[in-house]
Amino acid sequence: MTRVSVTVDGVAYSDDVEPRLLLVQYLRERLGKIGTVIGCDTSNCGSCTVLMDGKSVKSCSVLTVQAEGAAVTTVEGLAAADGTLHPIQQAFHDKHALQCGFCTPGMMLAACDLLRENPNPSDEEVREGIEGNLCRCTGYQNIVAAVQAAGAAMSAQTVAAMSAQTATDAQAAGDPPAALIPAPNAVEASA
Ligand code: FES
Ligand code: FES
Repeated sequence: MTRVSVTVDGVAYSDDVEPRLLLVQYLRERLGKIGTVIGCDTSNCGSCTVLMDGKSVKSCSVLTVQAEGAAVTTVEGLAAADGTLHPIQQAFHDKHALQCGFCTPGMMLAACDLLRENPNPSDEEVREGIEGNLCRCTGYQNIVAAVQAAGAAMSAQTVAAMSAQTATDAQAAGDPPAALIPAPNAVEASA
């Protein structure tokens, strides 16, 4: 047995594990994270994809001991604490990007990794980014559309967060809140 300490979906765990125990088995059988799916015996399907320190990995090809000290995110850690869906989850729902859903957790986590590096991917870039994840049902078109929609939503959220931070910084510096500064066209209208 080997002691392994790992953070999964924001919770720290420390467990004794067999050195040969696969990460996907640890997640499913020890932690009950059954949203991480086993879809093949050949490391081909990508259903078991999770994020390890932000990078997507096939958890059926990672030993649990290799995750020592890492932060792992499974599909069960994507939504906010209040249940608000992650943009990629919302986009899969909105764009009807799933049928049986077997591939969906891994697909969404692979997409998170892709969008972290490229928030505005082309069709071809999405297809390349998720090429390690197989879907037997949808024909991929809606999955590609969902990934692009999630990228747009996440970019918009980032811009909104930056605007909010700028407004906070300006107020801290003594500037009037942005909402109190007339927009240029409002100034023209009153001139
Ligand atoms: S279960 Fe198929 S790639 Fe991991
Ligand atoms: S939705 Fe069924 S395998 Fe992808």
